[in-house]
Amino acid sequence: MLKNLNLKQKFTIVLLLILVFALSLSGWVLSSILIKNAEEEIAAKTLTLMDTISSVRVYSVAQVTPELSEKLKTKFLPQSVSAYAAREVFDILRKQPQYSDYFYKEAALNPTNIRDKADNFETEIIEKFRRNEGLKQMSGFRSLTGEDLFYIARPLVVSQPGCLECHSTFDVAPKTMIDIYGKNNGFGWKLNEIIGAQVISIPANKVINQARQSAVFILLIVFIVFIAIIILINLFLTKQIVSPLKRLTRIAEEVSTGHLDLEFAPPSNDEIGNLAKAFKRMQRSLAIAMKKLKNNPDNQ
Ligand code: HEC
Repeated sequence: MLKNLNLKQKFTIVLLLILVFALSLSGWVLSSILIKNAEEEIAAKTLTLMDTISSVRVYSVAQVTPELSEKLKTKFLPQSVSAYAAREVFDILRKQPQYSDYFYKEAALNPTNIRDKADNFETEIIEKFRRNEGLKQMSGFRSLTGEDLFYIARPLVVSQPGCLECHSTFDVAPKTMIDIYGKNNGFGWKLNEIIGAQVISIPANKVINQARQSAVFILLIVFIVFIAIIILINLFLTKQIVSPLKRLTRIAEEVSTGHLDLEFAPPSNDEIGNLAKAFKRMQRSLAIAMKKLKNNPDNQ
């Protein structure tokens, strides 16, 4: 099939094949790298937030709860609860537009505040933490109402005997707390038990789509550059090879039909020029041979 094509068509076909192959390979590699980088960036951001919010919890348990414990007898102050402090701090953060779609939840199987009840996905995570006590963190993607979220989860452990003052049985818990949260939930926790998981989720769609767009944009530039190269190579081929060859062919045809006076002018000093010179020499030899033939009537 290639036999019937001219030089320019052959070159263009080969270059287009290279273009398709190079673009598919580099597209695949580039988008995997960019998406992987985007995912790592999201993971690093989420991890920083998780560490910050865990620090708020530690601060609250160590410095706020002991200060307020006396006051709980007369009035329940949610400020004394580390879970409350963590959520409040996160809610303040969410007021800034760039964090408005970040989520934080202290999901528990049997929560004090019903709002913290673990959904199916969170329950699975908590069960995994309970089965495997060495597991300190889980992360990945989850889809929620059409949005891809990246999440990091850490187990929530009843780490201190002090926790049981409010989470063991309702008759031990401050009455002021029962008045607000009731007797039915958030009790029966045991020391060192994993009762829930801290989960931070941040939307991943936007960052990953941006990575995809960057990949497409870079590939588009590569594509344009490649097409420009193909056009330039075609122009070069026409000027340096195809046209000179066509000219040589035309002259050779004329010479072969007896127009011996036509000139093979070498267009350059490259291979085509050498070919023209060779033709010229051949033309000269032909002319001499013809002359000899004419001057020697014996041969006729
Ligand atoms: C003074 C009582 C009190 C103490 C002490 C206390 N908590 Fe709580 N805890 C609460 C209350 C009340 C809530 C619900 C807060 C809210 O409305 O968000 C809560 C919420 C939680 C939550 C969120 C899930 C849920 O149950 O709603 C976790 C997890 C939690 N506590 C763990 C602990 C741990 C671990 C300790 C010990 C370090 C501890 N708590 C100590 C009263 C207490």
